[in-house]
Amino acid sequence: MTLQDLVDLKTAALEKAKTAANAEALEAIRIEYLARKGLLPKVMQELKDVAPEERPMFGKTVNELKNELTELIKSKQAEFSAGGATGAAGFDLTQPGQWQGLGTRHPITQITDRITKIFQTLGFTVADGPDIETVWNNFDALNTPADHPSRDEQDTFYLNNGDLMRCHTSPVQVRYMMGHKPPVRIISPGRCYRRDTPDATHSANFHQVEGLFVDENVSLADLKGTLSYFARELMGPDVKIRFRPHFFPFTEPSVEVDFTCHVCGGKGCRVCKNSGWIEILGAGMVDPNVFQAVGYDSSKVTGFAFGMGIERITMILYGIHDIRNLYENDVRFLSQF
Ligand code: DAH
Repeated sequence: MTLQDLVDLKTAALEKAKTAANAEALEAIRIEYLARKGLLPKVMQELKDVAPEERPMFGKTVNELKNELTELIKSKQAEFSAGGATGAAGFDLTQPGQWQGLGTRHPITQITDRITKIFQTLGFTVADGPDIETVWNNFDALNTPADHPSRDEQDTFYLNNGDLMRCHTSPVQVRYMMGHKPPVRIISPGRCYRRDTPDATHSANFHQVEGLFVDENVSLADLKGTLSYFARELMGPDVKIRFRPHFFPFTEPSVEVDFTCHVCGGKGCRVCKNSGWIEILGAGMVDPNVFQAVGYDSSKVTGFAFGMGIERITMILYGIHDIRNLYENDVRFLSQF
């Protein structure tokens, strides 16, 4: 074999590989040239018979052929197995598609939407606020005393610039009232952050819905009527609510609101620790100090506010026992709802 024969062989081999129609053809070319009994090993054996002055060039060309052909086959193989730019040759366009499955809305989103709709039927609109808040919006304007434990670094995430990750949705009340004159009728769902150690009922990141109603002559009876309606719409017509005295800095008087137990209907069972009641939210009449902070005249308007945890309600409604299930994004879990 002369050097010219070899060069021709090289040209032909590369051309064949370049135009191979599919993976099988490519494999046949590989075997023809590169396999142990293929053409290239045979050519190498002929090296000793090549004219001495052609020998170095001959050796070099054999090596080039081997490397270039190997590379070309590799890249074409990848192309074919990826479905390939070669269209019908590498990819069967008539094959039925693969169904990837349809997602569902996350349970927290579903319950947030349900809660939102209920209050929208009462004329509440949705207001939004940022996750990063000022200390003033999150605590001061909400009449939270300087030594209140929730201000501790152990409880609230502070940023280097002195702002914080809001620990409740209540600062949206402040933002909204600063920007709007009464009457006010808003709810505000959103994310909150607290320095909690995760367990079955705690997560450092969770969701709340805030509510605020401000107008002339708003009373505690309005609050009770509103929340009774909400409870029935959410849990069914038989649910009852009760107010228990409580303390929140931003409301006076303040209450915690219980619903009759969703499991026993109020008779008493393991879930409600035999009380017949389940605590669902906090509420109260807006403290005059909050009105003063946002520039409202508390001799003219009164209002009620409330706040509830969305995870807790989601877990009750769907019978979920561990809050962490809601954040793991395990499709086997999420697709049940
Ligand atoms: N911000 C309270 C919390 O995170 C919940 C709350 C209670 C909100 C009473 C209110 C309210 O607006 O009136 O625990």
